[in-house]
Amino acid sequence: MSALKNDRFIRALLRQPVDTTPVWMMRQAGRYLPEYRETRAQAGDFLSLCKNTDFACEVTLQPLRRYDLDAAILFSDILTVPDALGLGLYFETGEGPKFKKTVRSEQDIAALPKVNIGADLDYVVNAVKAIRSALGGQVPLIGFSGSPWTLATYMIEGGSSKDYRYSKEMLYARPELLHALLDHLAETVTDYLNAQIEAGAQVIQIFDSWGGALAHREYVEFSLNYMQKIVAGLIKEKEGQKIPVILFTKGGGQWLAQMLDTDADAFGLDWTTSLNTARQTVNGRAALQGNLDPATLYGNAQSIEKAVKLMLDDAYADGEKTGYVANLGHGITQWVDPANPKVFIDTVHEYSQKYLR
Ligand code: CP3
Repeated sequence: MSALKNDRFIRALLRQPVDTTPVWMMRQAGRYLPEYRETRAQAGDFLSLCKNTDFACEVTLQPLRRYDLDAAILFSDILTVPDALGLGLYFETGEGPKFKKTVRSEQDIAALPKVNIGADLDYVVNAVKAIRSALGGQVPLIGFSGSPWTLATYMIEGGSSKDYRYSKEMLYARPELLHALLDHLAETVTDYLNAQIEAGAQVIQIFDSWGGALAHREYVEFSLNYMQKIVAGLIKEKEGQKIPVILFTKGGGQWLAQMLDTDADAFGLDWTTSLNTARQTVNGRAALQGNLDPATLYGNAQSIEKAVKLMLDDAYADGEKTGYVANLGHGITQWVDPANPKVFIDTVHEYSQKYLR
């Protein structure tokens, strides 16, 4: 790790002192960048982009060429896992992800194969190796996966969902079935993330994008417990350096106290939670990441600067100097003007210094 030229992201996650607040953006490689759209066109489509090592490596690095980011994130998708489980992932333009098969019955679940990461997801492992090498220690590389609950919603619904009609039906009518599916996914995700760590991922984030759709009693039983199981099974250290783990439950700010019972190092927050309140809740026991409303980036330089300063004032209001990583509260969208993330990132680096001296 001594090889890392910029390790402030890892230091903040481990609650060690930093010179300035580290910052990255969820979904930082994507359609808002013209160079991304160009590479995707060259690859043919989104999945071919993920499956080609050179292209995946190229789009991972694109946002780092434009902005002073403190981390790179593997270019891939959370839905590679259900695809490897044989569901047949495809994208229809303007419609989001879809699966040829769904998983709704006992038979469907029993028929799920055991994924062989080295064979079925070798393209992800190869991308991690290539990106890590291309980064040359510039910043740490984040590996990621979806949470079992979030992946299960896509597998049960057959794509994106607004009401989680079939996933919630399974949860309430056949909870033992859902548990069997979540168990299988937790095991697969653990192997998948460990393969990413072996290949060179230096930080892990679990995206529980739809955990916030669960009722408060069900969140722990059907989402958090399975993320904890994964965290417990991950490789803790590589090359003498701890591998920090971040859990991000969108819409989960009210469950921070329960999240602290896991062994994760950091928790991501969306924009509906006050960072000051959240910092008081975790009280130095974990790091926090977030939580600028991504729609802030539809504003202009002045409005973005103002919002970022208010976010930092909130994050450091309790006088705690570390354990904070700036980010958006969810992924950046395709409609953002590429000039605007620069204002966000540069304001974080400049303005946060007054709190860190
Ligand atoms: O952060 C990064 O830069 C790394 C890349 C990344 C992608 N997807 C690329 C992508 C990451 C970390 C993801 C995670 C992901 N994928 C999540 C969790 C994060 C979140 O936003 O909550 C989820 C829920 C998905 C599932 C998914 N993939 C959806 C719903 C869609 C279509 C909607 C959309 O935003 O476009 C995708 C496709 C996808 N994944 C794109 C990208 C850049 C757009 C595809 C394209 O280029 O057409």
